[in-house]
Amino acid sequence: MTPMDLTAIDHVLATTRSVRKRLDFDRPVPPEVIEECLRLAIQAPTGGNSQGWRWLVITDAEKRRALAELYREIATPYLKAGLGDAGEVTAQQGRVIDSATYLSEHLHEVPVHVIPCLHGELDALPNFAAAGSYGSIIPAMWSFQLALRSRGLGSVLTTLHLPLADRAAELLEIPSGVTQVGLIPVAYFTGEDFKPAVRRPVEEITYWNGWKQAR
Ligand SMILES: Cc1cc2nc3c(=O)[nH]c(=O)nc-3n(C[C@H](O)[C@H](O)[C@H](O)COP(=O)(O)O)c2cc1C
Repeated sequence: MTPMDLTAIDHVLATTRSVRKRLDFDRPVPPEVIEECLRLAIQAPTGGNSQGWRWLVITDAEKRRALAELYREIATPYLKAGLGDAGEVTAQQGRVIDSATYLSEHLHEVPVHVIPCLHGELDALPNFAAAGSYGSIIPAMWSFQLALRSRGLGSVLTTLHLPLADRAAELLEIPSGVTQVGLIPVAYFTGEDFKPAVRRPVEEITYWNGWKQAR
């Protein structure tokens, strides 16, 4: 077996951030790069090997503008409410809101929007079915983001347009019975490399052989 380059693989796993402010709006993204990353993404697992995914890639400027307008209808009040009383927001949350607000204001400028879709109506599914459905596309969405990142492109998983998914469906001629699972803006990133994020120590959030039991 070829030895794996753990340094490179671990680096990609640890530093694939949500990229918003460092998206290069001016550098074109070749369609082949999107296809290459999607080809890798669809190696991800699906329940029962169902592969019910469809990937809608939007490069048309007018359609991206319309999607960004939909996104902002939800994002603007949501992000304003998130700011609330200045004292209630931690510095880290404040940075996320600031960055998310920037993305919202510039979404139409991001050269590629990808809407992962899944065959089936996922509203009101019982937990096991919901897990099986979303679990049959979200791993592939993350693989797509990892593949993009390792090729110098940034992305961020967004879900804020989903309350208006019907209007996005009309715009993009998505048939009924198909569920949109998010909207992933994609562009080359600018600047230096990314760093691992601060997370709670894994020992604190990992239990062994029973709830809250240490190893
Ligand atoms: C299910 C899900 C939904 C998200 N929705 C949005 C969104 O609508 N807009 C946005 O700007 N970021 C969104 N994010 C990105 C998160 O804000 C981001 O992952 C989080 O702040 C941690 O930052 P990091 O990904 O750089 O580690 C979403 C992430 C996930 C996993």
